[in-house]
Amino acid sequence: MQEIEMADRIEELRKLFRQEIARITTPEELEKLRIKYLGRKGLLIEIFKTISSLPAEQRPKAGELANRVRNDAFSEWNKKKKEIELKKEEVKEEKEAIDITLPGKKFSLGKKHPITLILDEIKNIFVSLGFCIVDGPEVETEYYNFEALNMDLHHPARDMWSTLYIKEGVLLRTHTSPVQIRVMEKQSPPLAIIAPGKCYRRDAVDASHSPMFHQVEGLLVDEGVSFAHLKGVLTHFCHRMFGAETKVRFRPSFFPFTEPSVEVDIQCVICAGKGCSVCKQSGWLEILGAGMVNPRVFEFVKYDTKKYTGFAFGMGVERIAMLRYGIDDMRLFFENDRRFLKQF
Ligand code: PHE
Repeated sequence: MQEIEMADRIEELRKLFRQEIARITTPEELEKLRIKYLGRKGLLIEIFKTISSLPAEQRPKAGELANRVRNDAFSEWNKKKKEIELKKEEVKEEKEAIDITLPGKKFSLGKKHPITLILDEIKNIFVSLGFCIVDGPEVETEYYNFEALNMDLHHPARDMWSTLYIKEGVLLRTHTSPVQIRVMEKQSPPLAIIAPGKCYRRDAVDASHSPMFHQVEGLLVDEGVSFAHLKGVLTHFCHRMFGAETKVRFRPSFFPFTEPSVEVDIQCVICAGKGCSVCKQSGWLEILGAGMVNPRVFEFVKYDTKKYTGFAFGMGVERIAMLRYGIDDMRLFFENDRRFLKQF
């Protein structure tokens, strides 16, 4: 072989090598290429054997070229190897990557139910006056719901509420007043508590009735508690709940567990006392029942009736919420219609 031919052959191998390596994308292909050109019997290695058969004076030049081409091929091969590894890394990273430019999942924040909002307000007012919040069971015994509240089995007052019975002697509480008894059984005076919670009565659903509703019970017992305290606390409550200008009226009433008993009215918030359909033309809205704790109740919990007096009250939360928000149908509170609930 002539020197020129040899150089052409080497150059051609270089060209082929470059063409092939350019197309390579996987480590397997790269390894095959290495064996083909740079392995022990590789094309760029074998060429040296051919060079040794050249006339002596031609060998250095051809050897030099072959060396250069082989070395270049080695470094190109190494470069390619790094490229492939890098690419693999990149692909892996891409697969695992979190695309922070994707829009996030939208979830809407819930809101407090209007009844909860009003409950929170009621609680805040009484807590600021030093009352504690207590809880009681919704499934009650007749003893706590009636008897200990001075309504024995034949007391006509048991007819005041249509009761939902679970079984003989066990019922869904018709009011939150049983919590009074439970608290007094455990604690001696002085005490000031409120008991918010659900109550149940066998009422058909309409704009102002629901078989489940909420009440907040209140009880304060100490030495020297008078009707003036009751009036003061409840007037303060009405003013904070409905505005300082709101007129408050105490009307005689009857509850077996309080004596004397009152019903508390506020001037109609809709017509300002002129008379409208909401207040049934009376100008007044009843918002709670109250009274001085009947000494008979104290006897049930073994309080000294000579030493202690107290007052109690109970209010309907739905009614207060309806007046505060100007809602004319109680059913809206329980239908879970988001168009309604979203407004608060
Ligand atoms: N428990 C009475 C009711 O449900 C309200 C009330 C509570 C009245 C406490 C007086 C004292 O109507």
